Parts: sequence; structure tokens; C-alpha cells
Amino acid sequence: MKIAVLKETRSGETRVAASPETVKKFVGLGANVAVQSRAGEEARFSDEAYREAGAEISPSTADATQNADLVIKVQRPSSEELRSLGRGVKLAAILAPYNDADSIAAYARLGVDALSLDLMPRITRAQSMDVLSSQSNLAGYKAVIDAAAYFGKAFPMMMTAAGTIAPAKVLVMGAGVAGLQAIATARRLGAVVSATDVRFAAKEQVESLGATFVTVDEEAMKEAETEGGYAKEMSADFQKRQAEFIAAHIKKQDIVITTALIPGRPAPKLLSEEMVHSMAAGSVIVDLAAEQGGNAALTRPGEAIETGGVTILGFSNVAGRLARDASSLYARNVFNFVSAFYDKETNSFAVDWDDELIKGVALTRDGKVIHPAFASAEEAPTAAAKEAPSEEPSTDDGATEKSAEDGA
Ligand code: NAI
Repeated sequence: MKIAVLKETRSGETRVAASPETVKKFVGLGANVAVQSRAGEEARFSDEAYREAGAEISPSTADATQNADLVIKVQRPSSEELRSLGRGVKLAAILAPYNDADSIAAYARLGVDALSLDLMPRITRAQSMDVLSSQSNLAGYKAVIDAAAYFGKAFPMMMTAAGTIAPAKVLVMGAGVAGLQAIATARRLGAVVSATDVRFAAKEQVESLGATFVTVDEEAMKEAETEGGYAKEMSADFQKRQAEFIAAHIKKQDIVITTALIPGRPAPKLLSEEMVHSMAAGSVIVDLAAEQGGNAALTRPGEAIETGGVTILGFSNVAGRLARDASSLYARNVFNFVSAFYDKETNSFAVDWDDELIKGVALTRDGKVIHPAFASAEEAPTAAAKEAPSEEPSTDDGATEKSAEDGA
């Protein structure tokens, strides 16, 4: 059983899918692990550390993936990486399959069994494998630290001989995993924190962290959660009333951290241009939904901008700005997932296709799209799908390359 760990190729990706700690654990299970040279460079894991943990260091992608049974990554593979995978290879990564039928069709066409870790079901058994949670936790923390760095005032109330400084007022919009961590971090820094969400379950969690929950309609919130624990898109009427309510509240805030997401949909727009400009000069907005279109009207993904005296931070891959911790946690998520299906007797990654977790994450199997949510992707007219000869991986760089590089 050979596991390949590749160096991430997407611009700005600092993370790596295995740490020396998890390599050692994989070796302990009986696997051979090949780590592409410098894969852990930005997370400060040296080739030497991986070697000491029992890995073989491979000079290139092709060397690492040669005869691999399982390839683990953070981002979805580039077309070059995809072409280096043999038929029947399992691929586990954040494949971000929504709106990416081209890549799904390519996995099927090339015979790669693609496991999209970001689709992990939200059940107790899968908590230690939940990559979205581990990364959101760090992003929520880092959002507050970034806000503090751009804010020209202190967070805590300070009583000095020269007078008293008022505490910063922080509003967190979206109290899921990232939002709750942002609340806890802002509270630790001494801010006065309020928060909002559309899911009713969030109210108690917010209050238990010592923040005030602000909402326009508690009754509507009781219907707003899916069985999987995610938010539904709210009615136009709710959104309008929520916007009016937030417009009044936001004027008094120094910092706003937005984290609101709806899986498979663009991020809900929660802050209009007018609301942004109603904040006092020097205020800071951190938009953690920037990569999904942003919760604020003026957010520019990947950038820090100032508009009318208000700074809006739309940094991409916020968890990756804590590359070491983000990689360590991601690597443990991957190990927990793989080891749950590892058969020590046959020394193989014995995926049980009927298991609830596998049904949740598996996009393709034996050349077919098997995930019901993406069944139509098989018909996607990708260049890779059309041009690849039946026994050979595609050599086309078109659609697959684009979607691969535009990933989560
Ligand atoms: P997410 O990243 O998809 O969304 C972030 C937050 O934005 C959510 O709390 C959502 O309700 C909120 N939101 C969506 N639209 C909004 C709007 N218009 N206005 C205000 N807020 C809005 O969700 P996340 O953080 O990944 O998880 C949500 C919940 O799922 C968690 O709080 C937790 O209860 C549950 N969960 C369960 C896990 C498990 O059991 N394995 C693991 C992780 C989370």
C-alpha cells in the first residue's frame, strides 16, 4: 500500500496534507509513504522530518504518484497531477465539487476514485475527520487577529492614569464553527461581542460564550437548519427584515466578522455598500466568505481594501495563513479518515462503499460518477473527457486545468 503526499500547486496554498506525525502513524499501520520533496516547506515541515518519520522523499509528482494506491492532497489536483494518477487510484482532498462538473467528469474518465473530504457527513463519528471544521476553527481565530492588526484602537477596556479606553465592539455574522471561534477569540481579547445567525441552535452557543445574540425573528430561525446542520437559504422577506435590523446595529460596531455560508450556493449578501459606509472611520470588516463571493458588497477576494475609512479584509485561504497548525489538523483529519478504513491484514485502504462516510464523500468509482448530488457531471462536456483515449489519461489542459486551479 503506497500513499503519496503531493506538494500543493495552487497559488497561495501553504498547507500540506500530511505531517511528520501522521506519516509516522501511516507507517505504523503498514503503509509506505512517499512525500514529494518540499511538500511541507511552507508549513515548516522539512523533508528531513518526513524522512525521519519513515517517508521516502520523491523528487517529483510523477515519482511520488508512481504505483500509488492513495494520493492525499489539500486542494483538488491540477490537470498535470491528475494525469499522473493511474486508474483505480484513490484521491482524497478538498475537491470542492460544487459547480465543477468538469473535474468530476475527468476523475470518472481517468478512473480515479475521488473522495471529496469537504463533503464529510456531519455526524459524531466523523467529527475527527471534518476538514471544514478544523480549518474554519483556525480561520475564525485568525480573522480576529487580522482585524486587531488593522484596527487602530485597542480591543479591551483599559483604565490608565491618562483615562479610560472603551472596549471594541465586535459583531460576528454567522455563528458556525468559524464564527464561534471568532467570538471566543474576540472575548479573550476583551471586546464586547454580539453575533447573529439564521439557525436557532446558534443562539445558545453564542450566549454560552458570553456574547449577545441579535436576531430579527426567532420563529423563522427554527426552520432554517438542514438535517446536516447547515443553514438553508432564507426567504426574501426574512433577508429584508434582517438587513434593516443589521443596518441599525452595525453603525455602532468597530469590527464586523462575517462567516455566513450556504453549501453549494454563493455566500449570502449581508452587508450593503450603505451599511459598510455607515460604520465609523477606522472600523474593520473581515469577510471570511470572500472566496464564495463575499458577505459584504465591496469585498475584493484576496485583498485588503479601504473604502470611506472602513477597511475590508477579503483574504483567501485564511486557515492557510496559519500554515503549520492548519496542516497539522488537516493531516490528522485525513489520517483519521484513512485509518478508519485501513485493513492491516491485507495492508490496504479497504474502502467500504456502503459506509455512510464513504457514501457522503465518494464522487467517482471505477470510472463512474456515483455521488447522487453530482450525477449529471458524468455528461459534462469536458475536453479531458472527450479527448482522453480509453486506456490513457487525458493530456488536455483545458477545462480541467482551469477548474483545478480555481479550486476551493
Ligand atoms: P457554514 O460554514 O456552512 O456557515 C457558517 C455559518 O453561517 C452557519 O452557522 C450558518 O448557519 C450561518 N449563516 C448562513 N446564512 C446566514 C445568514 N443569512 N445570516 C447569518 N448567518 C448565516 O457552517 P459551519 O460553521 O461549517 O457549521 C454549521 C454547524 O454545523 C455548526 O455550528 C455545528 O452545529 C454543525 N457541525 C457539526 C459537525 C459534526 O457533528 N460533525 C461538525 C461541524 C459542524
